[in-house]
Amino acid sequence: MHDHPPAGHHHADLNKKFFGNDFHWGVSASALQTEGAWNEDGKGPSNWDVFSKRRKKILNHHTPAVATDFYHRYKEDIAIISSLNIPNFRFSLAWSRILPGGIGKINPKGIDFYNCLIDACLEKNIEPWITLYHWDLPQALEEKGGWTNRDIIGWFEAYTSVCANAFGDRVKYWMVLNEPMVFTGAGYHLGIHAPGKKGFRNFLPAVHHAVLCQAIGAKVIKNECPYAEVGTTFSCSYITPYTTSEKDQRAVKRIDALLNRLFIEPALGLGYPVDGLPFLNKINKYIKTGDDLLMKTDFDFIGIQNYTREVVAHAFHIPHLKAWLIPADKRKVYYTSMDWEVYPESVYEMIKKFSAYDGVKKVIVTENGAAFPDKVENNSSVHDSERIHFLSNYITQVLRAKEQGYKVKGYFVWALTDNFEWAEGYHPRFGLIYIDYETQRRIIKDSGHWYGSLVRQKKADLRLQV
Ligand code: FCB
Repeated sequence: MHDHPPAGHHHADLNKKFFGNDFHWGVSASALQTEGAWNEDGKGPSNWDVFSKRRKKILNHHTPAVATDFYHRYKEDIAIISSLNIPNFRFSLAWSRILPGGIGKINPKGIDFYNCLIDACLEKNIEPWITLYHWDLPQALEEKGGWTNRDIIGWFEAYTSVCANAFGDRVKYWMVLNEPMVFTGAGYHLGIHAPGKKGFRNFLPAVHHAVLCQAIGAKVIKNECPYAEVGTTFSCSYITPYTTSEKDQRAVKRIDALLNRLFIEPALGLGYPVDGLPFLNKINKYIKTGDDLLMKTDFDFIGIQNYTREVVAHAFHIPHLKAWLIPADKRKVYYTSMDWEVYPESVYEMIKKFSAYDGVKKVIVTENGAAFPDKVENNSSVHDSERIHFLSNYITQVLRAKEQGYKVKGYFVWALTDNFEWAEGYHPRFGLIYIDYETQRRIIKDSGHWYGSLVRQKKADLRLQV
C-alpha cells in the first residue's frame, strides 16, 4: 500500500457548499458482523455461523460468534451515535434470531431484542433504518437449498411480514436486501462466502430468486406499513477499461451488466441486462410465467454502496465473462486494507448512473467507507487521518453529484464500529469506532469525531468543515 494519498485527492473546497437540511446523514452496521450471541436466547444458527467453522474459509479462523458483542452492548453504541449527533442508524435483523428455523415458530426473545434496539434509538432521536436481509440466512433454510430453492419466495415473504408487524409501527425506513450481487456471486458462484457453493447452476437460480424476493419483500412492507419508505441496496462500482482497445471496452460492458445492472433493471421492469451480457439468457430456465410482473416493484429509494472502481481487461480464458478485473495492487494505485482502490469519483459516477433510470426516485448512499490499519495511541486515541481523507474526498463527490441535480438524498458511513468483515475476519477495520476485541472496549476514532462534527455543522449552519 502507498503511504500517502496521492496529491490532488484532498478536500480543498468542501466548505461553503451545502447539503441542505433534508439530507440523511447516517452510519451503517449489520447483524452478523456485530451482534455475536450467535446461539443465545433462542437464536437459531445462520449460514455464516456454520460456514465460518469450515476449514480455511475465514482468515485466521475467525468466527462471528462474539463479534462486537452488540447484542449485549447496543446501548453503549447507541449512546456513542447520539453523542456524535448522527441522526440515522442503519442495521439489519438476524432472520434466525426472529425465526430460529427460518419459518414457523417465532422466537419472542428475538422480537424483544429488536424492540429494545429500536426503542433505544428512538429515545435518543436516532432514526432506525432496517435492512431485512444482510446475508445471514437461517441454516435450516440453507439446508433446503437456500437461495437456489424457489420456495425462498414464500419463506422470505413470511419473515418480512413478521418483521413488518412487529416493528412497522415505529420503523419508517426499510431496505429489503443488502447487495444481492455479493451474496449470490460470492456465496453461490465463487464459493468464498456462505454457503460456499459454486458455479452457474447455483448462481443463476439464486439471482432470480433474490430478484423476486427484493420485489415481494418491498410489496409486503408497503402493504403492512403504508407510511414506510422502502428501498433495497446494491453494490456498485465505476468500471473503466484497462486500455482504449475495443475488446477492453466490450469487457467493460459485460462486467457493468453483471456488477451494476443485474438487480436494478428487473426491479424497474426492464428485465435482465442480456444486451450487456448475453450469457444471462441462461437464467430463462428459472423464470416462470408471471415472474415478469412479480420482479417489478416501486421502490421509494435505491441504496447504493460504493467503495471503489474496477479496471477491466478482455480475457479470453475466463468462461462466459471473458473479462478480468485487474487487482489494485497490480495497477500501482492507492488502495486500502481490502486491496480496494481509493477512487472518489466512483461514487459520483454511480449516483449519476442510478439517478438516470426513470423509475429511480431517489438514491441514498447506504454504505461508503474504508479499512486502514488503525493504531491505538496512548491507550486512548486512534488518529486515522487516512480515513478522514477518504471520507471527505468521497463526500465531496456526493456533493458534486447533488449540486449537478442528481437525486442523491443521503449518505451513510460503513461502519459504525470495526466488525467481522466476512471472509476477511476481524482483520480489516472499517469503523468510526475502534473495537479492542480482547476487552470489547470502544474508542471513538478521529474519523468518528470528524464525521460527528460534519453532521453537526450541517445542523448548525450547513457549513462543512474538513
Ligand atoms: C459491503 C457489505 C458490508 C461490508 C462492506 C465492507 O459489501 O455490505 O457488510 O462488509 O462491504
